[in-house]
Amino acid sequence: ASYDRTGHDHFMAKEIHEQPAAVERALRGRLDARFHTAHLGGLNLDPREARAIRRVKVIGCGSAYYSGRIGAQLIEELARIPADAEPASEFRYRNPVVEPDTLYIAVSQSGETYDTLAAVQELRRKGGRVLGLVNVVGSAIARECDGGVYLHAGPEISVASTKTFTSTCVVFGLIALHLGRIRDLSPADGRRIADGLRALPGQIREILAQEDRIAELARKLSAAPGAFYVGRVRGYPVAREGAQKLKEIAYLHAEAYPASELKHGPLALVGPGLPTVAVLPDDDLLGKNQATLGEIRARRGPVIAVAHTAPDPRVTEDVVLVPRSEPELDPILLGVPLQLLAYHAALALGHDIDKPRNLAKSVTVE
Ligand code: AGP
Repeated sequence: ASYDRTGHDHFMAKEIHEQPAAVERALRGRLDARFHTAHLGGLNLDPREARAIRRVKVIGCGSAYYSGRIGAQLIEELARIPADAEPASEFRYRNPVVEPDTLYIAVSQSGETYDTLAAVQELRRKGGRVLGLVNVVGSAIARECDGGVYLHAGPEISVASTKTFTSTCVVFGLIALHLGRIRDLSPADGRRIADGLRALPGQIREILAQEDRIAELARKLSAAPGAFYVGRVRGYPVAREGAQKLKEIAYLHAEAYPASELKHGPLALVGPGLPTVAVLPDDDLLGKNQATLGEIRARRGPVIAVAHTAPDPRVTEDVVLVPRSEPELDPILLGVPLQLLAYHAALALGHDIDKPRNLAKSVTVE
């Protein structure tokens, strides 16, 4: 089938706007309204095997790795299995201990990223059980894994990934729900998460409707030499992916920090010339995050906040309001405005958005 930019200036814009439909496809037929769980036949895990998992390790590169950090957090929160993520490009070189009761999950949009493929092959050689979370059907990584879940996000052409990042997080939500309901997640919590997942496409539409406002903030951001991106716990991987987008297409230096770490060093850089993009969900860390923003403002650092409720106007009036999801799923929505922020910053700077310099859509060499 032909695929073009229909109605959009760039594939990246098209793909950002395709997210509600991509998320609907990721969810289609996979939620069970009766038992409040997710059906993911491709995992090839029976309930006994699922209960025997002691640890989950997610691997992927770049944005796939950042989505893996969100995924690991979802699995740890909902299934109560210790989980973390690591760049596949590092994992494959450090002779990792491969344990039989660890579930490995490889994330890749293309399914062809060489570092991720090599990590999967090394895992399989050592008897590790690897699931693939992949977009391209029949790709090398999909074929190499023991099972997995396809994103069904449709083709992604822009080098900077957007819809596949969001879809990956959604699929992690399904995996976490599935594992959680086999383990200790209650039916009530299962229903809460399933309802939260179902609401995402409409909520993403609400965020996309604010594009003009986000573009205005992006123009301000594009005049700066770079930016800090900060968040705490659930917000931190969102900040990392947001910073990655700004680097990739706007060519602005962007550094993501856990908001809690600013005072341990990087605060020395904060001042009128360096804006901070803050991921500010209305969770139990809101007070702490606001205190961090207060410290930034005391040094006259500009702040752009992506938040559920507007922070004190003395801290900033540059806010994008994002609809609330279930707290565990909040990262999925908080990431969407950061894609538009990077896109419009790159647009204001006149860059080649779909084909940024020095980058390839999938890195199939070492
Ligand atoms: C995303 O914006 C990047 N272009 C890049 O980090 C990408 O996510 C990474 O190279 C992994 O690609 P994959 O998902 O196809 O494996």
